Amino acid sequence: MSCAALMASGSLWRLCFGAPRPLSAYGRRISVRFCSSRMTLDNINRAAVDRIIRVDHAGEYGANRIYAGQMAVLGRTSVGPVIQKMWDQEKEHLKKFSELMVAFRVRPTVLMPFWNVVGFALGAGTALLGREGAMACTVAVEESIAHHYNNQIRTLMDEDPEKYKELLQVIKKFRDEELEHHDIGLEHDAELAPAYAVLKKAIQAGCSAAIYLSERF
Ligand SMILES: [Fe+2]
Ligand SMILES: [Fe+2]
Repeated sequence: MSCAALMASGSLWRLCFGAPRPLSAYGRRISVRFCSSRMTLDNINRAAVDRIIRVDHAGEYGANRIYAGQMAVLGRTSVGPVIQKMWDQEKEHLKKFSELMVAFRVRPTVLMPFWNVVGFALGAGTALLGREGAMACTVAVEESIAHHYNNQIRTLMDEDPEKYKELLQVIKKFRDEELEHHDIGLEHDAELAPAYAVLKKAIQAGCSAAIYLSERF
């Protein structure tokens, strides 16, 4: 029987995730794609997977808010379509981690309302410095996120590369896309932003703090 047919019959769901529990309306709409993975709710390193999914969901949410803030200021300028394209990819990243949260029963960080405001303010604030300021923000944030994803890839590879194969594929794909965003920022004159080095360092210190807090709370 195919993976889809098994999932439809509910037997694969029970096999992978145990007896079905009531999900939210959103949860009922999603499809869990970890069909061939050896990952189940029982055999994973629960603490590590919890931490990874929670912080990545928070990070992608924050990235979405940053690009929303940038678009609010620069959406009608020549750089608007470039920012919109990166934002569209962040929406896909957030959607994926939202699905994984439901599938692996991970709660979001309690700091979501805070990241909502801080993310938008960071995006809009740097965009007010001009196109270069927005791109400097993109370079700083995307470099931090790519570094963070590389750390997670190392952790999962050390744990069990076969068991976490599909989660690793997701993280590696997103890491590559964050690096593309980083390069787009550089191509659009990020380094010409006022006080680029100081701005980048300050934003990256904020990213490190956000990662630390979102993993734990
Ligand atoms: Fe992302
Ligand atoms: Fe990104």
